[in-house]
Amino acid sequence: MKQLDTIGTKQKKINKICVIGLGYIGLPTASMLANHGYSVVGVDIDKKRVEAIKNEELIIDEQGLMTLVKGAINSGNLKVKVEPEEADAFIICVPTPLKKEGGAPKCDLTYVLSAVENIKPHLKDGNLVLIESTIPPKTTEMIYNLIDKDIYMAYCPERVLPGKILKELVENDRIIGGINEESAELAKEIYESFVDGNIYLTNSTTAEMVKLMENTYRDVNIALANEFAKVCNEMDVNVWDAINLANKHPRVNILNPGPGVGGHCISIDPWFIVEKSKNADLIKRARELNDNMPKYVCNLIVEEFKKLNIDNPKVSIFGVTYKGNVDDTRESPAKKVIECLLSNNFEVSIYDPHAKIFEYPLNKLEDCISNSDCIIVLTDHDEFKNFEKDDISEISKLMRNKIVIDTRNVLNHNIWKESGFEVKLLGDGTTWSV
Ligand SMILES: NC(=O)c1ccc[n+]([C@@H]2O[C@H](COP(=O)([O-])OP(=O)(O)OC[C@H]3O[C@@H](n4cnc5c(N)ncnc54)[C@H](O)[C@@H]3O)[C@@H](O)[C@H]2O)c1
Repeated sequence: MKQLDTIGTKQKKINKICVIGLGYIGLPTASMLANHGYSVVGVDIDKKRVEAIKNEELIIDEQGLMTLVKGAINSGNLKVKVEPEEADAFIICVPTPLKKEGGAPKCDLTYVLSAVENIKPHLKDGNLVLIESTIPPKTTEMIYNLIDKDIYMAYCPERVLPGKILKELVENDRIIGGINEESAELAKEIYESFVDGNIYLTNSTTAEMVKLMENTYRDVNIALANEFAKVCNEMDVNVWDAINLANKHPRVNILNPGPGVGGHCISIDPWFIVEKSKNADLIKRARELNDNMPKYVCNLIVEEFKKLNIDNPKVSIFGVTYKGNVDDTRESPAKKVIECLLSNNFEVSIYDPHAKIFEYPLNKLEDCISNSDCIIVLTDHDEFKNFEKDDISEISKLMRNKIVIDTRNVLNHNIWKESGFEVKLLGDGTTWSV
């Protein structure tokens, strides 16, 4: 095993950076670095993606991203290709999904390990390797020991919010976890070129834990809100009012309940702690509770429809992305709600003004609501918040029955009621329960 505190050849000047993986994280990072004077080679194994970026096509619905990408390409500082090449530094931004093969889910490191294998032939002593992909604790050390060169290495977790990636890439504070101090210092030089927030240096395992703890904190908080929603239903209490009032306490900040937790981070990262620790009971329980919410929501709908006695019910799903105003449907709870409704013999149609790719067909608004009995809002897109009275009366003309179920507390309920809709809210504590 290599000594973590000694490194041979020194190479302190970083001019050329290879960014591996050009998705939500890698593409903005590569473009940002290129716009800040680095010579950047962006690498993705997906040929279509590489061609689309070269042709300056919009591949990710993220505000300002294409302007940044175009600027980077036109400056001559950003090249994109399918194979890595020699560079001073390498930044790994490839996916780390869950693998579910019996028992609790685990981190699938296949993409990270294959990215490491791909850069190995191009690595020289003194190069810097940075990992931005979210990984379980001690993975950076494990990967460092796979590389047979005197390199610098650090884990630099990404903390950006989809929808605000470019702003947060610059403004957020950054944690850099070096395999040793020199690695952290060298990584800091790169991030300082574009980060306005503070940069904190630590060791790689602490940085790995920090990233996972941030998302676990949110997951556990949402699980608590979801449990409160169920308890409030039993107590005839509107959970949204109760949370709002509880949050008036200066040291309380309960997040919102909803149909489940999705996305590439919060619904996944806590499992990376569970897989490595025997003591992560609460974290595991919270994950299971949030994962069970789509079924809970589906059961509420099924029970409600039993009371209504509607033949061949058709429901219209509004929103399938995992959160509002983004196009990302990865791990979206909507998929599980839809599966459950289909297995209960509901006809389901879907409308989402942002989503482009989804497991089930996406419809235009009119087609989605045509002859429908009920709208089920699963995502808090601004388009849903901003429905005006005229929009709702047009919607109501096309529907067979006028019921709307809001699982995100996003609609203006009064104007829906004024337009003749029966409005139900997840956790409203009075109108429905299982
Ligand atoms: N999306 C977010 O908001 C976010 C936030 C924080 C952290 N992260 C983490 O960042 C990592 C990347 O996430 P993302 O959302 O950018 O993923 P993504 O799926 O959008 O993009 C990953 C890209 O990597 C490419 N790829 C896969 N294997 C490769 C290889 N061996 N060589 C080159 N390219 C390869 C894929 O083709 C894809 O284009 C994940 O670990 C994720 O958990 C994501």
